[in-house]
This record gives sequence, structure tokens and C-alpha cells, in this order.
Amino acid sequence: MPSDESKVPVGAALVVGGGIGGMQAALDLASGGIKVYLADSKPAIGGVMAQLDKTFPTNDCAMCTMAPRLVEIGRHKDIDILSLSEVERIEGQPGNFTVTISRRPRFVDESKCTGCGTCVANCPTRTVVQPVEVPAVQLDPSLQEPVANIIARHKNRQGPLMPILQEVNATLNYFPEGVLKYIAQETGYPLTHLYRVATFYSAFSVVPRGKYIINVCMGTTCYVRGSERLMDRFAETFKIRPEETTPDMLVTLKGVRCIGCCGLAPAVMVGDSVYGKLTVKDVAGIAKKYAGGNGNGKANAR
Ligand code: FES
Repeated sequence: MPSDESKVPVGAALVVGGGIGGMQAALDLASGGIKVYLADSKPAIGGVMAQLDKTFPTNDCAMCTMAPRLVEIGRHKDIDILSLSEVERIEGQPGNFTVTISRRPRFVDESKCTGCGTCVANCPTRTVVQPVEVPAVQLDPSLQEPVANIIARHKNRQGPLMPILQEVNATLNYFPEGVLKYIAQETGYPLTHLYRVATFYSAFSVVPRGKYIINVCMGTTCYVRGSERLMDRFAETFKIRPEETTPDMLVTLKGVRCIGCCGLAPAVMVGDSVYGKLTVKDVAGIAKKYAGGNGNGKANAR
């Protein structure tokens, strides 16, 4: 029989696995006043979710779900992260366990790390990749001139990338591969970074899109108020599926996250126009407006 003393809870918990579930468990325990050790075998917490763009079935942005928890855990005085750690042995009984954990070396003093990234830049073991000479990107003159003008307007400002991409996107409606390569060449941003940004934001696209993009809000409020039925009716009307474009390049149908007017749910946005409190009966009128290429861009919220 264990002694009475051995039954006294020690007031600390170990959460094994730093994925989204482990992170939430650690936060819940810590907010209940329990000291938490969050162990993960990887160099950082985040788990598989950190590798995802969107989550099923609501298409929520994975990083938007995870980032607030990461920040909260990083700042919480009662949560210690044990990275590169494996559980070796567990002894004891409920309320009083002793866990032996082995940690792999990190070569960085975590108590002094500010996340500045200087160690990465100066890592002596990192393979130095010699830059490969690539031929200069030449665009079709009809593309090159407007894109070059946009780049010239923003290039010397602070943080020029987003303004450049937004303006190019507004001009061309999508990013042809050659244009992204040209922007990389002219601004010095790595092409991989440009692709990351161009494929992250739903306002951007790397495939051609129609003149009008019908954004059907699939955010939670709109979804529970029937936006899926609106999407189905639009798809049926235009004879395309979500994310597709009509053959005449007039209309692209797109499911998006909350467009910021939940009070009008279910809502649809086309350019600057917002159509709210819709029913499937309203779809025909909206579709007619854009299928003929006569969208007037005026708001029609109700
Ligand atoms: S959920 Fe649709 S506008 Fe917010």
C-alpha cells in the first residue's frame, strides 16, 4: 500500500506531444494553476498542424489557429517546453508520478535565445550553397512594362513586397509564373518566398481567374446559415465547381473564410460589392449580373 504522503498530488503535469492538442491541454492545465511540462521529441512544438495551410472541414487557416496558442505558451510562466525530449521511464501512481526524460543536445542556450536567427546565419556546419547563374527573366513587353512600373514605384520603400504583389494582382488578376520570377529577379526576394505569399492569401492566385470573383463566405456564421447551399446553387448556375472559372473567363467561384460582415450572413462578396442575408433564390439575380460581364461594383448589402 502506498503511504498517505505518496498520494498527495505534486501539482505538476507532463503533457507529451506539442501538437495542437498538447498545446491546448498545456494551456488548460496551466490556467487551472498546475505547473506544466510540455515535452516533444521535435526541436519545436506545433506538430503536424504547423505544416498545414488549411484545416478540414472548415478551411480555417492552420497558423491563425495555432499562433495565438504558441505565443501564450511561450509567455506562460507555468509552462516549460521540453523540446528534443523523449520519455524514458514513468514510475509512481496517479497523483505522484516520476518521469525520466532524455533530452537531445541543442547547442543553443535556450535561456539566452531571443529568436534573432543570427545562429542560423552563422552556423559553421550549414552547407553553403553556391548561387547558380540563371538567365535573366524576360517577359512579354505587354506584361513587362506594367510590372516593371509597379516594381519601380515600390522597390525603394520599406517592405515593398506586399504592395508590389497587391498591385500586380489587381492588374493581372493572378500571378503568371514568369511574372513571379521577374519580381524575384528585380526585388531580390527568393522565388520560394514569393510563391509562399502568393499561395497563402486567398486574394492571390497563381492560376488565371475570371474577371469577377464570386467569393461565397464559408466562415462559421455564414456556413450555419446556409452558405453551402448558396455555393451549390452558384456552381449549378455557372456549371463550374468551387475554385473553377467559366470558359469565357468572366466568373471564378470561390469559397472564402469570414469576409467581416457576419451580421449579414450568409454573405457573398464580388469585388467591392457585398450581398448579404441571401437565400438560394437570390443567386440567379447575382449570377445574371456577372455572367453578362456587367457587374457594377456597387454594394448591395441588406
Ligand atoms: S462568417 Fe461570413 S461574413 Fe463572417
